[in-house]
Amino acid sequence: MKNRVLGKTGAVVSEIGLGTWQLGTRWGEDFNKKEAMEILKAAEENDITFIDTADVYNGGKSEETIGEYVSAHPDKFFITTKCGRRLQPHTAENYTPEAVSGFIEDSLRRMKLEKLDLVLLHCPPTPVFSRDDIFAELDRQKKAGKIADYGVSIEKVSEGIAAMDYDISAIEVIFNMFRMKPASDLFPVAAEKNVGIIARVPLASGILTGRYTKDKVFGAKDHRSYNREGASFDKGETFSGVPYELGIECAEELKKIFNTEDLAPIAIRWILMHPEVSVVIPGASRAEQLIGNIRAASLPELSKEQMKAVSDLYERRLKEIIHPQW
Ligand SMILES: NC(=O)c1ccc[n+]([C@@H]2O[C@H](COP(=O)([O-])OP(=O)(O)OC[C@H]3O[C@@H](n4cnc5c(N)ncnc54)[C@H](OP(=O)(O)O)[C@@H]3O)[C@@H](O)[C@H]2O)c1
Repeated sequence: MKNRVLGKTGAVVSEIGLGTWQLGTRWGEDFNKKEAMEILKAAEENDITFIDTADVYNGGKSEETIGEYVSAHPDKFFITTKCGRRLQPHTAENYTPEAVSGFIEDSLRRMKLEKLDLVLLHCPPTPVFSRDDIFAELDRQKKAGKIADYGVSIEKVSEGIAAMDYDISAIEVIFNMFRMKPASDLFPVAAEKNVGIIARVPLASGILTGRYTKDKVFGAKDHRSYNREGASFDKGETFSGVPYELGIECAEELKKIFNTEDLAPIAIRWILMHPEVSVVIPGASRAEQLIGNIRAASLPELSKEQMKAVSDLYERRLKEIIHPQW
């Protein structure tokens, strides 16, 4: 496993991290702590040092379980958590300095930590990315020693650009073979300001594993069933906003380009070809998936021809839909 520096945090983290939205749940099933612990153990055994979580994942159980695991393995992991999504309703008006400081206290308590490595605003409504009072509160939290660094998780590239007017250390953004705008419009600015990039949803919610078919059925409590049109949150979080059937057709083309049925490591390697990316965070609902995905770390660089073929596919089939929205 290679390491990269996470922007202004200065932290050296594994270039492949662990996403924990689905940790121990398999999307909507009862929380299975044993399975969650097995995934964290597999991460540690395979030299993953970066974990991405959020206060809302599994009603706080993701943070609690990570806190428990990490307390037994001190100084091994860099943990990023996110806040804001507990606000009901989730509106810009409800974002206040008091709310943000309360969320930070809650995450510290759930993970039994004295200081958070990195806290991100969790895809707030667009106006929040320009709110002086919210970023001033994050500065206060930093000075008070409650957080080491802060940043933002974004839906749209323009939100990341706005947030870079403040002293953010990292941006978490959807970036994958189906989502290319960050490379041209966000990464150069972030690199200039030494803002780290955390690439999320690297497998387009699983389509880019190459293992899905058009007739695959997802469970009723799985966002890949209920959020395809954005019923609960931004539709870009589900399959990166690509209509499912189109995504499957594109994955089939990619399998031909790379002459493989096992696309996941290639999809992750493609992300790592971008030096501005600090860490890529595939989610895993079982330890075997994590082990499959980290094979990306030992793959050789993709060739210029392969990179061009992926870009051509994006230009031809996806850009028109994806680029204007995010
Ligand atoms: N707003 C935000 O800030 C935000 C939003 C979304 C995600 N995130 C973070 O980003 C992380 C990654 O995003 P994501 O989990 O939504 O999408 P993803 O990483 O693109 O896809 C994860 C899903 O792909 C499938 N998968 C992964 N590896 C596999 C393998 N080797 N073989 C077969 N299937 C495999 C699994 O589906 P099954 O579970 O069905 O097997 C897994 O749940 C999350 O865990 C979370 O930490 C943040």
